[in-house]
Amino acid sequence: MDKKICNGIGHSPPSPPQPHVTPSTSSACTENARLLSPVTTSIDFTLNSLIPERDIITYRVYENELQMPDIMRLIQKDLSEPYSIYTYRYFIHNWPKLCFLAMHGTTCVGAIVCKLDLHRQQRKRGYIAMLAVDKDYRKLKIGTNLVSKAIEAMLFYNADEVVLETEITNIPALRLYENLGFVRDKRLFGYYLNGVDALRLKLWFR
Ligand SMILES: CC(C)(COP(=O)(O)OP(=O)(O)OC[C@H]1O[C@@H](n2cnc3c(N)ncnc32)[C@H](O)[C@@H]1OP(=O)(O)O)[C@@H](O)C(=O)NCCC(=O)NCCS
Repeated sequence: MDKKICNGIGHSPPSPPQPHVTPSTSSACTENARLLSPVTTSIDFTLNSLIPERDIITYRVYENELQMPDIMRLIQKDLSEPYSIYTYRYFIHNWPKLCFLAMHGTTCVGAIVCKLDLHRQQRKRGYIAMLAVDKDYRKLKIGTNLVSKAIEAMLFYNADEVVLETEITNIPALRLYENLGFVRDKRLFGYYLNGVDALRLKLWFR
């Protein structure tokens, strides 16, 4: 089930940034380890008091099925391989605390979908299955913040490591993950239906 996901392809540069993105946890996994619980919103009240409310991006953990169409709409736009509602439900219903949405007002502008289970009966492995940010909201660190939220939550549930696959040509995703400390673990030849190779990226917590 965890194969051939997260293969979104990069797009041309987005329109100029408008909304302000609240700072989230920074890159290093050690820094994330200090956080004790999964966070449902990243609003910094001191800073946000200076920013018009309409420009603030907030981060929410998945709450209910009503959010499913937004998540699917965002992710489907960018994937070269379509997934059925059952694939989304498999991840989101089993690991709802590992699914986060980025909201601009009432509009969902980003989403991340993950899982966490035992790998080879030894290590608790987190897996980032899907990640997408609306084209008009890219390069604002929303993707970075969503991944950081997912990592915080995985650490809360005692993950030992986190992995994902992405197309070898997906420069935005590679930059995002490598900035966060992920390393290239394996090249998977012809992994995707479109023939493109994948890179498996990995972040070790211990
Ligand atoms: C990959 C994606 C989630 C990045 O989201 P984002 O919110 O724009 O990312 P961030 O703003 O956090 O940027 C992260 C890094 O990627 C870089 N980046 C983002 N878009 C880029 C682009 N088009 N070209 C080159 N670098 C890019 C940023 O510059 C930043 O690196 P830097 O800090 O060194 O400058 C987004 O491009 C997307 O939704 N793509 C389609 C779906 C996809 O590919 N998902 C990932 C599948 S694993």
